Amino acid sequence: MRTTRSRQLLARACKRIPGGVNSPVRAFRAVGGTPPFLVRGRGCRVFDADGNEYVDYVGSWGPLVLGHADRSVLRAARAAMANGTSFGAPTEIEVEMAEAIARAMPAVEMVRMVSSGTEATMSALRLARAVTGRERVLKFDGCYHGHVDSLLVGAGSGVATLGIPGSPGVPKAMTELTVQVPYNDLGATEAAVRRFGDEIAAILVEPVAGNMGCVPPVPGFLEGLRALCDRSGALLLFDEVMTGFRVARGGAQALYGVKPDLSCLGKIVGGGFPAAAYGGRRDLMARVAPAGDVYQAGTLSGNPVAMAAGLATLARLREPGVYEQLGRVSKAVADGLAEIAARRGVELTTAAVGGMFGFFFHPGPVQDFEDAKQSHAERFRRFFAEMLARGVYLAPSAYEAGFVSLAHRAKDVAFTLEAADAAMKQVARVG
Ligand SMILES: Cc1ncc(COP(=O)(O)O)c(C=O)c1O
Repeated sequence: MRTTRSRQLLARACKRIPGGVNSPVRAFRAVGGTPPFLVRGRGCRVFDADGNEYVDYVGSWGPLVLGHADRSVLRAARAAMANGTSFGAPTEIEVEMAEAIARAMPAVEMVRMVSSGTEATMSALRLARAVTGRERVLKFDGCYHGHVDSLLVGAGSGVATLGIPGSPGVPKAMTELTVQVPYNDLGATEAAVRRFGDEIAAILVEPVAGNMGCVPPVPGFLEGLRALCDRSGALLLFDEVMTGFRVARGGAQALYGVKPDLSCLGKIVGGGFPAAAYGGRRDLMARVAPAGDVYQAGTLSGNPVAMAAGLATLARLREPGVYEQLGRVSKAVADGLAEIAARRGVELTTAAVGGMFGFFFHPGPVQDFEDAKQSHAERFRRFFAEMLARGVYLAPSAYEAGFVSLAHRAKDVAFTLEAADAAMKQVARVG
C-alpha cells in the first residue's frame, strides 16, 4: 500500500489545520498510521491520493446510503445548482423535503431543517427545555449527539476514541444539567427519573447506538423509555441522525414501533451535502420561531442543493426491497466476520441492524458502553490495519459503526471477507 502522497498531505495539513483534519476521528489517532487522503469515490469504492482503492464501509460516516457519486443524486444536485446555490429565502424544495420526511416518519408532523446533526440535537434540546420548563437532560453513556456542550458528557464516537472524559471549555454548569445512565439499562433510567423526574426535560437516546460501535436496544428498552417519559412528563427525543432512513425508511422508530415526541435527523437526509433536521409533534414544533418563541435560525438551512440531493436519495429509498438489500449486505458482512473469527479462534461479537453493522473483539454480549470498552483495542488496531492494507476501508475506531450502501454487491462482500480472513489470521497472533 503506497502512502507517500497521503503522508505529504498530512504533514502539510497539520501546519494549518488542527491535527490535519476537520473532524477528530479522521486523523487515525486510535489506530495509528496515516489516514489516506481521498480523491474520488464511485459506488462502494473510494480512491486515495496514492492510487490505492478501497471497499468503503464509512460512507462519509453514514450519509452515502446509495454509494458514492450516485447518478440520480448528482443529477439532482447539478440541476438545483444551475438555478443558484443558496437564497436564504423560502423555496418549494424545502416544502417537498418536509413532506417527504413526514411521509416516512409519521411522528415528525412538522420539521425544521438545519445544517448538521449537532445543530439538530442542540435545537431539539432547546425546544424540549422550553416546552417543559425543565433544564436537565438524560442521556446514555456512549451515545454521541454531536458536540453540543451539555451532550459531550459520557459521549461516544471521537470523544471515546480519543479517550477523553468530556471537553475542556464546556462550562460545569452545562454538564451538571446532564444525567448519565448506562445504555440499555431501564432500571438505572427509572432510578434517575425517580431522582430527577420533574426536572428532566428530555430523555435523549440513539435508538440503535452507533457511536460506541453498533449496539442495538435490548427488547423493551425503547418502550420502557416511552413509558417513563409518559409518567414523568419528560419528552422522548430520538436522535436518528445515524439511524434515520438507514435501519428502515421510517428509522428506528418504525423498526421498533416506538413513537418519540421529537426526532433528530441528519446524514442521509442531506444526500452527502450538509443538511439535518429536527421535528416531531405539531404542538411542540409550533413553539419554534417564528411560529413560536423558541429561537433557532441558520443562513444555509434548507439549502436547495442539499435538499435536492437529499430528496433524490429519499426517492431511491422508496423503491421496494431496498431495506431488505441493505439488511442482507450488513448481515452478510457481520455474519461473515463472526464465522471467520470463530474459525480463527478469535473472540468477536457482531451486530447488524438495517444498513449498519458493528463488531467488537469481545466475547459479548455487548449491551452498553462499559461492555464496548472491554473490546480488545490492540486486536482492533491490527485488524483495521490489515484490512486497510488489503483494500477495505473501515471506520478507524472501535467505537464506530460500519455502514453499507445499495452499491455494495455480493462480490464486494466476498472481497471484504477474503481480506478479513487474512486479517483475522494476523489478529489471532495478537495476545
Ligand atoms: C447519532 C448522532 N447524532 C448527532 C451527530 C452529529 O452530527 P454532525 O456530525 O452532523 O454534527 C452524529 C454524528 O455522527 C451522530 O451519529
